[in-house]
Amino acid sequence: MGRLVIVSNRVPDPRERNQPAGGLAIGLADALRTEPSSLWFGWSGHQAESRGGDPAPSLDTHGKVTYATVPLTPAQHRGYYQKFSNGILWPLCHYRLGLMDYGRADWHQYLDVNRMFARVLKPLLKPGDVIWVHDYHLFPLGQALRELGVTNPIGFFLHIPFPPWSLFRALPCAADILRDMQAYDVMGVQTEEDAQNLWECLHVEGMNDPSRVVACPIGIDPVSFGEDAREAFGGPEVRRLRESLHDEPLIIGADRLDYSKGLEERFLGYERLLIRYPEHHRHVTYLQVAPVSRGEVEEYRLLRRQLDETIGRINGAFAEYDWTPIRYLTRPVPRQTLAGFYRLADVGLVTPLRDGMNLVAKEYVAAQDPEDPGALVLSHLAGAAPELSEALLVNPHDADEIADALHLALTMKREDRKKRWDALNVEVRNTTAGTWARDFLAMLYKSQKTESA
Ligand code: ADP
Ligand code: F6P
Repeated sequence: MGRLVIVSNRVPDPRERNQPAGGLAIGLADALRTEPSSLWFGWSGHQAESRGGDPAPSLDTHGKVTYATVPLTPAQHRGYYQKFSNGILWPLCHYRLGLMDYGRADWHQYLDVNRMFARVLKPLLKPGDVIWVHDYHLFPLGQALRELGVTNPIGFFLHIPFPPWSLFRALPCAADILRDMQAYDVMGVQTEEDAQNLWECLHVEGMNDPSRVVACPIGIDPVSFGEDAREAFGGPEVRRLRESLHDEPLIIGADRLDYSKGLEERFLGYERLLIRYPEHHRHVTYLQVAPVSRGEVEEYRLLRRQLDETIGRINGAFAEYDWTPIRYLTRPVPRQTLAGFYRLADVGLVTPLRDGMNLVAKEYVAAQDPEDPGALVLSHLAGAAPELSEALLVNPHDADEIADALHLALTMKREDRKKRWDALNVEVRNTTAGTWARDFLAMLYKSQKTESA
């Protein structure tokens, strides 16, 4: 059997113990633990001026995985990553058409980087390899590889939502993208809703085989995450946090600082809790960890300023000299420490306006103490919501609904929390990073057999 070749824009640095926040790299790294040998190709995370021609990949083998990465030029980083991927496709796929800022030059830069990736990757491929391309940065990569004569099976997985045709058609190059995507043997998305939307779009562009579009939700490695949480719970960071709370409850949120995560709306929901349920004054703390993400993109800079203002306003209005209602960190926290914080927290607050999956919700569940678990307040617009239907589901746009759910979570009896958590835990253990990769790859292999039959 050949190797599994993963291609994604973001590739984790195997030397770095603390990986940048982001579900793709974390989910894939968890999934790769069971693969015999693999190659992971993508952007190095660095920028370098071109010396003419394509960059040579840097190769670095750690255990069973060889990492092959290339830098981007500053112009490529701007056009392909900041503008087309994160200023056009990201808002569009998160149903935020008003934030999309289309420019044809960025589309061309995006295509050029995809073709460059294909040219650099091709000589690294071997005949039995199975190629698995990830996320919206690389929609055209499969077609670019096919144009270079690559005949290996190529699958694609989208980690973010896919919008309906009525929205996607607003993208001037929608038809080009949908035609290129048809080079993939199998296309995976997180939910049935995404699968229906993607299929509808591909069908408009002439594809007739719905079996090539599959819903295949990603998960985490709940066993090792649970162990991390237990270990970190006894460690110095959790102890410091616990001591600072003086036995009062903790609400936790952990998200990249991204407008899709609904942070502003979430703070307003917490403010409504303090207004409508004053019994919680001085008796609850909300810790939000939101590491800065894509800080060069204008919308993200604006959001950061807006959140600084909202948090300052809420703390200014409600704080006492011995109580700060919101604690806010914009730097990443090591994932293991975060696991310990989740275990300590009485409530996990996860309220994206749209999210492909949202691994944080699954991590919060996996980190809990089964005998005294916390409660999960979850947006019904997160990709995780259909699986985690026993969470306290809320509409993230409704501050009063968030406030009511927080109040319920903070006052819920242990046996009710346990009942809900038991059901959530079954889901988190059923769909893991490992089952996700295995199920998707099984479909990819099957598509090959059907083709050659
Ligand atoms: P996305 O892929 O959009 O960032 P997910 O919730 O699917 O959203 O995945 C985020 C991942 O990043 C999770 O594994 C989570 O533990 C990690 N993460 C989130 N916030 C932080 C943080 N503050 N510090 C470190 N890691 C974080
Ligand atoms: O999971 C969605 C995603 O966009 C990944 O593709 C990406 O790696 C992650 O979020 C973090 O974003 P970025 O790579 O832009 O820092």
